[in-house]
Amino acid sequence: MEIIKTDFLIIGSGIAGLSLALKLKELGEVTILTKKRIFDTATALAQGGIACVLREDNHFDLHIQDTLIAGDGLCNPEVVKLVIKSAPERIQELLNWGVPFDRDPENPGRFHLTLEGGHSRKRILHVGDYTGRAIERALVERALEAQNIVILENHFAVELILDRDCSSQACKVAGAYVLDLHTPQVKIFLAPIIALCTGGAGKVYLYTSNPDTATGDGLALAYRVGVTLANMEFFQFHPTCLYHPKAKNFLISEALRGEGGILLNPEGKPFMQKYDPLRKELAPRDIVTRAIDMELKSTGGECVFLDMTHLPSDYIKKRFPYIYETCLKFGIDITAQPIPVVPAAHYLCGGIRTNSHAQTDIFNLFAIGECACTGLHGANRLASNSLLEALVFSHQAYLKIREIFPQLRGASTNLPKLKTPEVKEIREEKVFISHNWDLIRKIMWDFVGIVRSLKMLDFARRRISFIQEEIENNWGGLYLDLDVMELKNICIVADLMVKSALSRRESRGTHYLLDFPHKSEEWAKDTLISAKF
Ligand code: SIN
Repeated sequence: MEIIKTDFLIIGSGIAGLSLALKLKELGEVTILTKKRIFDTATALAQGGIACVLREDNHFDLHIQDTLIAGDGLCNPEVVKLVIKSAPERIQELLNWGVPFDRDPENPGRFHLTLEGGHSRKRILHVGDYTGRAIERALVERALEAQNIVILENHFAVELILDRDCSSQACKVAGAYVLDLHTPQVKIFLAPIIALCTGGAGKVYLYTSNPDTATGDGLALAYRVGVTLANMEFFQFHPTCLYHPKAKNFLISEALRGEGGILLNPEGKPFMQKYDPLRKELAPRDIVTRAIDMELKSTGGECVFLDMTHLPSDYIKKRFPYIYETCLKFGIDITAQPIPVVPAAHYLCGGIRTNSHAQTDIFNLFAIGECACTGLHGANRLASNSLLEALVFSHQAYLKIREIFPQLRGASTNLPKLKTPEVKEIREEKVFISHNWDLIRKIMWDFVGIVRSLKMLDFARRRISFIQEEIENNWGGLYLDLDVMELKNICIVADLMVKSALSRRESRGTHYLLDFPHKSEEWAKDTLISAKF
């Protein structure tokens, strides 16, 4: 079996992985693994933008306050301060890497800033309505130019390798077994530092704004080696995804509401004043999502509508070119008719628990971006804080790695006996796999969604546990098939989400439990879950 040694192994190629690689390349050789193509990331789909305090009328304290309010009492205030105060420096790096943020047409010396739900001021930098694509492109270009960065596509990490001394306090990660989906064969990568930058897990739900790659791989990898995960019950639903049979996961950015879009119920009436009279359409996401859910349930409608038609048509086309063109392809002219929208699973607020330097329970295993739970988002992420979190924590990780790498590089590793895993091929009809995929996603959508109850959660727990057992009995081990390997991961993640949701006996942020409809001081703490217990 091929054994490849590298200084830094980064798993994932979105903003977290790429920005970390661009810093670490000064210290040694970086290898980035990505299970599909380099651009197949959630970063590349991000529309709205990246929040940063740049203007004098927009003090750091206001952004901090907005983040804490959206997080509904569960953010770590120190982390919130760290992220928001570091934002201007991190944005400057993005500019240096070549991200062309839009300028204000009235004052080209300044950036154009927009508004989204939960923000008390305009503070979101953007590139049209395709900010993530512009960021991903700039970072990929810089990474491809770099001498010291190797990017391997179609490489899927299946298991982390721990140092043999892991029963002691100073447990270390030593590498990973990786399935090369090209050849196909298993390779071993060994590295003194490993960073999980694998994104989220929206694919556990039937309807999601996430790319197909969002199958919680990093969460499952970390969980399997005993690392603690936190707040897995807090899954954020984006209020507005396009409702159209052929639009698989198309987001209608919150920035449309930031620029004046109005939500209409299936009867064509505005409704947000009933749920949040002051902030209305610009209330935090959990509130808007639940309001839409209530309207759909009470009217029996299939979707609500986002109306932009009161805004000048030229302005809409210029400000939202990507959304305008995409909707037009589906036969919807957003300048002339309200857009049919529904909520969809969007962002995991919890994840692999890290400290303020992105370190997990294992000091040389880092987790950055959506797969991590840093304490920034609490129970409900503030819009446009996620790209920022990834950037700030890749920098924080870099600072720590710069400090620990010299000793680690020289240290001897106490590798366990490396195995040559048997790689199997699916014998059965593929329908066994696709059926289990569909079942998990439907169970999660129907019973672990926007509004939950203990009965629903318990029902989901039993069914997911049955599927998990069946998967292990029938498809244990390694398979030369991404669908099987991802199925195992979504099953683990779904199970952790349900168990975490069942344990939290209150309603807070994105976790709304009918049996306990109020927030309780007693529960103002993180939900921790680990395979150790
Ligand atoms: C959006 O454009 O609405 C998404 C922004 C985000 O999720 O932060």
